[in-house]
Amino acid sequence: PPIRLKMWIKALGLLVLVSGSFALKGYKILEISPKSEQESAIVAKLSSTYDFLKLTRSDTSQVLVSPVEESRLRLVLAANKIAHKVVNNDVFADVLKDKEDNEIFCVKSRLGTDCYRSHEEINNYIEDLQSRFPSRVHVRHVGYSYERRDLKTILITNGDGVKNKKVIFVDAGMHAREWISPSTGLYVIQQLVENFEENKHLLEKYDWVVMPMINADGYEFTRSSPDNRMWRKTRQPYEDCIGVDPNRNSGFMFGYAGTSDNPCVDTFKGPYPFSEPEVAVLRDVLLSLKGRIDFYLTLHSHGAYIIYPWGYDYIDAPNVDELETVAQAGFNAIFKHSGRRYKVGNSAKLMYPAAGASDDYAYAEAGARISYTMELPSGGSRGFDPPPSDIKSYVEESWAGISAMAEKVIELY
Ligand code: ARG
Ligand code: ZN
Repeated sequence: PPIRLKMWIKALGLLVLVSGSFALKGYKILEISPKSEQESAIVAKLSSTYDFLKLTRSDTSQVLVSPVEESRLRLVLAANKIAHKVVNNDVFADVLKDKEDNEIFCVKSRLGTDCYRSHEEINNYIEDLQSRFPSRVHVRHVGYSYERRDLKTILITNGDGVKNKKVIFVDAGMHAREWISPSTGLYVIQQLVENFEENKHLLEKYDWVVMPMINADGYEFTRSSPDNRMWRKTRQPYEDCIGVDPNRNSGFMFGYAGTSDNPCVDTFKGPYPFSEPEVAVLRDVLLSLKGRIDFYLTLHSHGAYIIYPWGYDYIDAPNVDELETVAQAGFNAIFKHSGRRYKVGNSAKLMYPAAGASDDYAYAEAGARISYTMELPSGGSRGFDPPPSDIKSYVEESWAGISAMAEKVIELY
């Protein structure tokens, strides 16, 4: 009888959930604090073997380890006398709690800032805006992810009908596990559309184009089970492993530094530039706006950084002074808003060189004279998971910075 079948299915589902989650048992997070250039270089090398949640040259780094990895890594660190300590002793417990919290908050809230939303909810939201504000909002289907999810952009105008204005471009959700990124992208959209009166000065000289979810497959994968929460890449298989780092897959200086040829590594660059449909879609959108984009902003997490080209190597971009000036406007606004001090500077020097990222691509190939990666603030047990109850304060803070940078761009150009 069907009722019995249902019970069995439920029991089986529960079993899968519980047994699946054992995969995270015993996982810890180590914080590593290199004290010299040499020590930093060793840590950078380790990043191709271990799952680094945070990797910087200028600051501490964090790595997620299984019990086996922990003992191996500790040996290497001890042999090189590199300072390290455990900052999270039981990742598993936190992950389960995060998942529960998100579900509770989601039920209560209408949209956006109270919990993390699915790709479908995000798409539905922007479609809904289009029907509510048809004179100011244009949603476009721009392509498909590898698993055939719908990728969309939203063009936001002030409704004055002026065509081909210059553009401020924002994207989010490139790295799957960086959940605060699409939340922030959504908030940007909400502010410009639903809070138009307060923000219309940002829409006189410029139209905004927002792509709130690039790596839709990866994002949905991180939502599918606590075990998958730390996934970063796309979901297209290569040999025995899955996924490409979409932020190593762009065609400018592809593979030059800070990338991997190994499909099993988190910074796998892919077999050739734009092998990932999601990255090819972003390229096409950017190129369709070529020469009109003055400000390109890609939202990532975590660590609270505003970083600018070049990122592929330790080289200053031609207009480094402008890049610094606009970023400082963001820094000041955020500091005033919450007291948080972002770190601002050249991407390679401040973090590490990494080629094939979208910020360099937009700067070099789409003419975005101001191009930033914004690493939103850390939160939660592993840095990528600010609790749902914190989303609101995070996105408000970030909007203070983003709108201040936009104002600076408007003033300068
Ligand atoms: N956390 C980002 C990443 O690893 C930083 C990218 C910065 N940009 C760059 N061109 N290196 O993808
Ligand atoms: Zn990222």
